[in-house]
Amino acid sequence: MNRRRTSLLISLLTWLAALAVIPCAAEPVAHQRLSWARGATFYEIFVRSFADSDGDGIGDLRGLTSKLDYLNDGNPATTTDLDVEAIWLMPVFDSPSDHGYDTTDYYAINPQYGTLADFDSLLAAAHRRGIRVIVDLVINHTSNRHPWFVESASSPSSPMRDWYVWRADDPGWRQPWGGGRTWHRMDGAYYYGVFWGGMPDLNFNNAEVRLAIKQVAAFWLMRGADGFRLDAARHLIEDGPGEQQVNTPGTHAFWKEFAAYVRKGAPEALLVGENWTSTDQIAQFYGSTETVAGGDELPMSFNFPLAGSILQAVRSGDATPIVSTLANVARLYPPGACDAPFLSNHDTPRVATELGSDGRKLRTAAALLLTLPGSPFIYYGEEVGLEGGKPDPNIRTPMPWNDREPGGGFTTGRPWRPFSEGRAQANVEWQADSPSSLLSQYRRLIHLRASSPALRNGSIAVLDAGEGNRQLLAFVREAGGERVLVVHNLGLTAVTAGPWDLHASEAKLLYATAGGATARAKGDTRVTIPGACSAIWRLK
Ligand code: NOJ
Repeated sequence: MNRRRTSLLISLLTWLAALAVIPCAAEPVAHQRLSWARGATFYEIFVRSFADSDGDGIGDLRGLTSKLDYLNDGNPATTTDLDVEAIWLMPVFDSPSDHGYDTTDYYAINPQYGTLADFDSLLAAAHRRGIRVIVDLVINHTSNRHPWFVESASSPSSPMRDWYVWRADDPGWRQPWGGGRTWHRMDGAYYYGVFWGGMPDLNFNNAEVRLAIKQVAAFWLMRGADGFRLDAARHLIEDGPGEQQVNTPGTHAFWKEFAAYVRKGAPEALLVGENWTSTDQIAQFYGSTETVAGGDELPMSFNFPLAGSILQAVRSGDATPIVSTLANVARLYPPGACDAPFLSNHDTPRVATELGSDGRKLRTAAALLLTLPGSPFIYYGEEVGLEGGKPDPNIRTPMPWNDREPGGGFTTGRPWRPFSEGRAQANVEWQADSPSSLLSQYRRLIHLRASSPALRNGSIAVLDAGEGNRQLLAFVREAGGERVLVVHNLGLTAVTAGPWDLHASEAKLLYATAGGATARAKGDTRVTIPGACSAIWRLK
């Protein structure tokens, strides 16, 4: 065991022991150490669809481990990898479903994906390359086949009855996003399951449940996981129908308790919330940044409104939706909060499908994602323009490594799902050596972002692009003595914009998605930027 693991183990054992102790009021606030995560580029992986090591057509942990060099080869001098700094594994715990969002055992790896030993090997191989690994933690609900639920449902007098949410009648609450029923009948009683009857909600008002979930978190952190993506984070505790089913005071209180617990034992562990809601509600999940830098609740939450705004803006060629979402974020997030922007994920149509496979639009969307503040999350395959729309399985198809083999480099057997349309060009092998490919653009931008303090962690000041220039999004980002000017032209025609009073004497072009972008920095700064082009200049 290396030194990092040994000291982590000691602090975690102390921390586990502390679970049994009532916290004393004078206990100092534990701080998080998340500089590794703030600004880092993350990559979301559906293990079932990424790479299959044993030819059964199902992706697995060993397959993923064999592809780590594609994600980051650990050598900063090479530019042939994507250079992502962290991966998010969609659910890997045991589960009866393909997607895994209905856990049956929080302490076991889905046997289709491998074993705990495979998980340990993946972590070791990832960490050797400087890749952190966060895992999906699905705790709002379990599978209805989880032994906890089976026991709870066995009798109203079961000692675990209160681990789930039961009542004698159906009060008729609907899913808060305007869907179906949430109370499910069983043996003359009703249990709450906000997603569906196969996913009964755990009762987070029950102290034993809260303790059990903390133990699950401790187990994976002790194994070396670097944090969690928190599924359905705003749904934990309900106080009544409609608005009272989400974002409740009890839910916030639990996340504060959970985050404090995690910070104490594993201050470097990241928690990223799936709070699929409006900017003002997402802002609440950071808690206060006054006592804990980054927030005393969840240090990151995905920015769903921004994803919608980026796609809408790129589709229409009008940057206004992005400008207004960024203004809302600046107004509503607590100071020092770290955003988590993304374009699409396993629940939303893929970018290439949303934007109609127009290469220029895909480039603009990627450049926006990778130049905005926060920690960008890329959904596997997005970097090669993988297509896929609803229903969900079509958004989660096998990774197209090549178009030569029937298994596409994903498997030597028969893929568990067919590949998406468009594999002839939307594949890694086709794009890897082409400097003009989408994949090459992702690689260059991620490398640039990682090496630029301003792009990785800088502040953002959105510039007024001027009347009639709604197709432009221009901003300055600044950190660590570096200042960059970023201009995205979402339209198809060239634009000259400025002058901006940026007190710059020099503008050095660092990156442009098309030729012909120029900036004049003597006196006020002005830029000329071709249609469908994103450009980055370093200002001196
Ligand atoms: C949100 C996840 O992203 C989704 O895929 C899942 O089905 C639900 N939560 C329930 O876990």
